[in-house]
Amino acid sequence: MDALTLLLNRRSASRLTTPAPDSKALDTILQAGMRAPDHGALKPWHFVVMQNEGIERFSQLLHKAAVVNKLGADVEEKAKNAPFRAPLIIAVIAKVKSHPKVPEWEQVVAAGCCVQAMQMAALAQGFGGIWRSGSWTHDAVVRKGLGCGEHDQIVGFLYLGTPTLKAPATVSPADLTDFVTYF
Ligand SMILES: Cc1cc2nc3c(=O)[nH]c(=O)nc-3n(C[C@H](O)[C@H](O)[C@H](O)COP(=O)(O)O)c2cc1C
Repeated sequence: MDALTLLLNRRSASRLTTPAPDSKALDTILQAGMRAPDHGALKPWHFVVMQNEGIERFSQLLHKAAVVNKLGADVEEKAKNAPFRAPLIIAVIAKVKSHPKVPEWEQVVAAGCCVQAMQMAALAQGFGGIWRSGSWTHDAVVRKGLGCGEHDQIVGFLYLGTPTLKAPATVSPADLTDFVTYF
């Protein structure tokens, strides 16, 4: 698929199954993430890759967070099951550094660009994925479990795998009227 076709037709897939990207495809995905635009070459991000036992551990971590926060049986169950929605998850953490020219928001946006780049690299290799966040991104138990420092921000969890539903190949072009002005 050429780059413009990919960009113009990108869509998320929320229902994902095996096969997950293999180690070569995963390496390409991670390398694409590393090419995110990066003011000051700070590389202010970290990727936590979860597969197999990693998904089990993530499930236990979300469950623990729900228990610690006393969120009730329903949420505990939902938390436990959430990571099994895909065979591969990449948590993307903005490792925000103090810098005289690069404010925090730029570093968080750069980490967000990593997520987008990695989703595109997965799609380009025939896989599907969805960027998820939710209240877990701010949760102290989850943050500690994923190794976040005080100023780090979890910008998302990129769920990846093979889509179970076949989506239409093309997306209709957007009406730009309300979104674009020419100065
Ligand atoms: C920062 C961020 C967080 C998101 N969190 C969630 C989420 O927790 N759950 C969800 O269903 N979609 C979430 N989304 C939206 C999906 O990734 C996706 O863009 C949306 O389902 C629309 O589908 P599309 O990408 O095919 O247009 C998030 C998107 C962004 C940019």
